[in-house]
Amino acid sequence: MKAPKEPDTELGRRDLLVEALLSLSPDMIVTIDQHSVIQSIGAVAATMLGYEGNELVGQNVKVMIPPPYRDEHEANVRRYIDTHEAHIIGVGRKLEAQRKDGTLFPIYLRVAEVWDGGNPLFVGLIHDLTKEEQAKDREQEMRTAMQHMSRVASMGEMATGLAHEINQPLTAINQYLSAASHQLRNGKPDIASAQEFIEKASRQTERTSDIIRSLRKFVRFTGGEKTRCALEPLIRETIDLSLLESERKRITVDVDIPDTLPDVLVEPVQIQQVLHNLLRNALEATAKVVRPHIRIFAKPHRETHVQICLEDNGPGIDSALKDELFERFVSGKSQGLGIGLAICRSIVSAHGGTIWAEEAEPTGARFCFAIPAATRSQQ
Ligand SMILES: Nc1ncnc2c1ncn2[C@@H]1O[C@H](COP(=O)(O)OP(=O)(O)OP(=O)(O)O)[C@@H](O)[C@H]1O
Ligand SMILES: [Mg+2]
Repeated sequence: MKAPKEPDTELGRRDLLVEALLSLSPDMIVTIDQHSVIQSIGAVAATMLGYEGNELVGQNVKVMIPPPYRDEHEANVRRYIDTHEAHIIGVGRKLEAQRKDGTLFPIYLRVAEVWDGGNPLFVGLIHDLTKEEQAKDREQEMRTAMQHMSRVASMGEMATGLAHEINQPLTAINQYLSAASHQLRNGKPDIASAQEFIEKASRQTERTSDIIRSLRKFVRFTGGEKTRCALEPLIRETIDLSLLESERKRITVDVDIPDTLPDVLVEPVQIQQVLHNLLRNALEATAKVVRPHIRIFAKPHRETHVQICLEDNGPGIDSALKDELFERFVSGKSQGLGIGLAICRSIVSAHGGTIWAEEAEPTGARFCFAIPAATRSQQ
């Protein structure tokens, strides 16, 4: 075995210590001078970037910065030296680094400044975020898939009701058309009333395609585009979609949205899913109530958000479940999966909002969530 190096001076000992630390660090450590020339680079850094040993020493650090930051970099260092106004130093920032072969990868960069004989040196600690980002992507994919699955499952539930719902306009169309045909078959054809029946039939076909269109929109796999939406139509459409006609006859649903309420900036289908889950819960909670009632109302929330509440007159939330309502697989129902509220929470927080439950007076539950209001200029 080779004997370890024996430094003979204090400085030499420190150099060896730094060298050992550089070679051990799982993060990349790069030192540059005031002209952005690389002074030293840890072995890990060189490998991560696809370079050999000390190949990078003496090169400008720009080789590892992809555009557009590449051109800004020198000006930033210069401005820092002149003004001491820190943008990265001591703060840390998520960026991308460029390998020798031109490929990019996500990093977290922290920079410290040290002084070397009157000249500044910058030490960059670079953490490779590839694994974290991949894990985040996978989690997002799973979440989207789960939400989609639950929408498809809801569609299964809705199917029977929808068949009934679509059947109604179809029956009406049939009746209007036979009435029209009857008017025309008579000895004295009544063109005007035949025309009226045909127009009525045509309006019913619009209703049928509306039902199908909104259902298609609901189950579509969505990519997360946020748009500016008016709240009231979004809520009313969800009620139409989520409650079967027989349920709508049994339960009263009041919607109270002030005209002055700002629009919201959301992915509409996802917010409809939150409303759908809350509506189904309220409906299930009021199954044994004599006069079941749901009230949906909204108001501004902390200047930047809008708060939407859905209140029912059921028995209220079981106190044993209170603290973990929004956790996955928590259910007080024999047939419940316990994912409805967990999905609501993940959608609302992906929108930068919050969701919570309260007790309603005199009995019942109130679920509220806040989502960002659209500013005047947002589309
Ligand atoms: N409006 C409500 N009133 C009373 N309890 C409620 C209400 N909404 C939810 N809960 C309680 O919270 C639990 C979790 O609700 P969640 O929607 O997450 O799951 P679930 O309704 O049981 O099943 P699913 O995943 O099919 O929706 C419910 O089982 C119920 O006990
Ligand atoms: Mg539920």
